Amino acid sequence: MALQKKLSDDQASVTWTPMYAQQGEAVHAPRFSLPDSEMSPDTAFQFVRDELMLDGNARLNLATFVTTWMEPQAEHLMALTFDKNMVDKDEYPRTAELERRCVNMLSRLWNSPSDDEATGTSTTGSSEAAMLGGLALKWRWRDRQNKAGKATDHPNMVMGANVQVCWEKFCRYWDIEPRMAPLEGDVYHLTAAKAAQLCDENTIGVVGILGSTFDGSYEPIAEISAALDKLQAETGIDIPLHVDAASGGFIAPFLDPGLQWDFRLSRVQSINTSGHKYGLVYPGVGWIIWRNPDALPEDLVFNVNYLGGNMPTFALNFSRPGNQVAAQYYNFLRLGFDGYRRVQQTCRDVARYCADAVAALGPFELLTHGTELPVFAFKLKDGERNYTVFDVSERLRDRGWLVPAYTFPENRQDLAALRVVVRNGMSRDLADLLTADLQRHVAYLDQLTTPLPNPQHQAFHH
Ligand SMILES: Cc1ncc(COP(=O)(O)O)c(C=O)c1O
Repeated sequence: MALQKKLSDDQASVTWTPMYAQQGEAVHAPRFSLPDSEMSPDTAFQFVRDELMLDGNARLNLATFVTTWMEPQAEHLMALTFDKNMVDKDEYPRTAELERRCVNMLSRLWNSPSDDEATGTSTTGSSEAAMLGGLALKWRWRDRQNKAGKATDHPNMVMGANVQVCWEKFCRYWDIEPRMAPLEGDVYHLTAAKAAQLCDENTIGVVGILGSTFDGSYEPIAEISAALDKLQAETGIDIPLHVDAASGGFIAPFLDPGLQWDFRLSRVQSINTSGHKYGLVYPGVGWIIWRNPDALPEDLVFNVNYLGGNMPTFALNFSRPGNQVAAQYYNFLRLGFDGYRRVQQTCRDVARYCADAVAALGPFELLTHGTELPVFAFKLKDGERNYTVFDVSERLRDRGWLVPAYTFPENRQDLAALRVVVRNGMSRDLADLLTADLQRHVAYLDQLTTPLPNPQHQAFHH
């Protein structure tokens, strides 16, 4: 959540048209203080709805990885289950059962080695899952160090500079040194050599990403794993691997079945994903699975019995919506393996089609082509121009397209790019419309004889 500040309430109150109000009702309310009295639900509904009119159109939000369309049946199911609290497992045992089925399905989808060993939970999203995965790594490392009589005051975690902000948060909140491998040249993510180079006996784990938020590329998980095997053979240091498959966890199993990135690699101890990304559920649900009980230290698990029954939980928060888990299970049941494959293949096909069309426009060069995640990033070709990718992003908003422009992380901050995330519901027709709009803007921008004044680049948060 953005941190919000308390503001003085002497600004103009919020007002609505008299036709919205019932007879005798006020047509204004203080902006930042709780109104003194009630209003009718219809008036409140209409007013809040109007307030939201200037939000972007979620379907045209090509910045987000998060689901913006679900089937009416799924929406209906979610509406029917808004009142379920995920934590009340004893009171809502069937919701708990759906979570259990989802964890089982995911652990099998990710090739966990034995039938009854993998363990996992739903979370609020990949960020909470990352915190849980990271904590398990920290606990295991501390245990190892204690047993060896070694110091436990300087843990570090190794990752690429392209990690999503959740890993920086994890390191800051839990006092871990983030060891980030800077980008190198045209490689925009962690490499195996860099990962191994940064590790030492204080490394709690390496995070590999499938795929990178910045450009949709897969990090070479199998190579990273092999480099860590080699490191262990040479030094005896055994570093576990966590895979942040926030998006790729729902892409690779369906589209790249031969790719070794999951529990088939014995070094992979845990995997997180976002059910609300390519898991195709509205925000916010995520998942984390550990390969076996050894990977999840017991003393991180809380057993609470005050809701009735004995309930083991590992979570940062307590109450959470249960309806997203019901919706995840709906998708699993509704689509099955083949349905997911079809949806994700369509996304990849549209991403590649759209990437080719953007490249054909002339001024742009693709950084990625939509061949891994259905995501592509592109920059302006080198050369003098009176505009930047930030100007292109801003102009695309004129018809509602939200296409973020941003700079890359350490060592490649010189690189500014645009990124398109293709999600379920982005058709070829929409891709054609986007490309046509890009062409229109570029034709205009190319005619500029001086640079655009004062670019107002909005920061974009991945
Ligand atoms: C690679 C990666 N990890 C973690 C996250 C955070 O995911 P969530 O929004 O589910 O917390 C994202 C979000 O884009 C991501 O791309």
